[in-house]
Amino acid sequence: MIRPLAEGEAEACARMMASTDPWLRLGRTFDQCLGIVLDPSRETYVHAVGGSVRGFIIVNMRLGVFSGYIQTICVASEARSSGIGSRLVAFAEERIFRDSPNVFLCVSSFNPRARALYQRLGYETVGEMHDLLIEGQSEILMRKTRGPLLGR
Ligand SMILES: CC(C)(COP(=O)(O)OP(=O)(O)OC[C@H]1O[C@@H](n2cnc3c(N)ncnc32)[C@H](O)[C@@H]1OP(=O)(O)O)[C@@H](O)C(=O)NCCC(=O)NCCS
Repeated sequence: MIRPLAEGEAEACARMMASTDPWLRLGRTFDQCLGIVLDPSRETYVHAVGGSVRGFIIVNMRLGVFSGYIQTICVASEARSSGIGSRLVAFAEERIFRDSPNVFLCVSSFNPRARALYQRLGYETVGEMHDLLIEGQSEILMRKTRGPLLGR
């Protein structure tokens, strides 16, 4: 049920993203979201049922020591809290761990439910970046690791 983004599905992903927090609060427009989903330097995977996209995850493998960065994860509002987000994260981890021992992600300080989910899935807080995207809020960098980048 999880596979690479297919042609014609990017708009549905961008609509899903642009219509919900945290991107609403961050002021992301539909066009900006579409640009993020279609960015060719990243990999986008969708959870689809019968051709209908229920959620997606974007992975960035081109960030040097921070490779394996989960850029975006979003599940359709009516499909949340039924395990899709956890399955998308597990899929991304499997993909990332093939090439790198670290998975990184950021979560906004005003998104405690998502942060709680990542903690349950084994992510540890690395640090907090104050006023990174909007004033008065932080982005919290989290990491799940299987070991050092250079081995041993
Ligand atoms: C965060 C998100 C991807 C998780 O997907 P999901 O399919 O709901 O996740 P699961 O069913 O595997 O796990 C459920 C947990 O997700 C979190 N969650 C559920 N709804 C959420 C929401 N609207 N916003 C943030 N986190 C949410 C909660 O921790 C929830 O556990 P709970 O039901 O015990 O409170 C999804 O809820 C979502 O798209 N939220 C809005 C966008 C977002 O916050 N993305 C993450 C940005 S870092």
